[in-house]
Amino acid sequence: MNNYEIEVFISKDEIAEKVKKLGKIITDEYKNTKELVVIGLLRGSVIFLSDLVRELDLPVSIDFMTVSSYGNEMESTREVKIIKDLDENIMGKDVLIVEDILDSGLTLKKVMGILESRSPNSLKLSVLLNKTGRREADISPDYIGFEFEDGFVVGYGIDYAQKHRNLPYIGIVKEVK
Ligand code: PRP
Ligand code: MN
Ligand code: MG
Repeated sequence: MNNYEIEVFISKDEIAEKVKKLGKIITDEYKNTKELVVIGLLRGSVIFLSDLVRELDLPVSIDFMTVSSYGNEMESTREVKIIKDLDENIMGKDVLIVEDILDSGLTLKKVMGILESRSPNSLKLSVLLNKTGRREADISPDYIGFEFEDGFVVGYGIDYAQKHRNLPYIGIVKEVK
């Protein structure tokens, strides 16, 4: 795309309100946990994760994983591999994956399979955005911020060619011809 503009899709205030709500729900559900391990997938999750954990009134630890991005590759080569693994062992722990966006579901399908095989006490998934129109893997998140069918979104952690992650809102990319 040579020329594009970004339209506000979900405002900064709407996001903040939703993150607070999710924080309350999650705090309530894990009120008996000894430790909630919050896992972010680099890099898209970092903004949502850092806001969400501050709404959790729980004993929280944070860990990160990087899996190969297939964003710029051809369809046939889409393979999800671990580039950077977690630093800590999650066996017996309550684990919550925090992701910016669930799209095809291929990333999370793979990651959840890997984490499940390490025998956590529980494994749940929180996504800020559930983009439903292009799903390929069967994934149902436990906590969802916003749901939409289709559209090319950026901001609040989500990039377009590594740009726009720092936008305080979620925008929709529109091609300008
Ligand atoms: C994006 C996004 C999700 C994933 C969702 O990450 O942050 O992790 O794609 O797509 P899927 O459901 O189709 O697998 P990306 O691979 O672009 O890396 P990034 O987080 O570093 O931007
Ligand atoms: Mn990502
Ligand atoms: Mg990306």
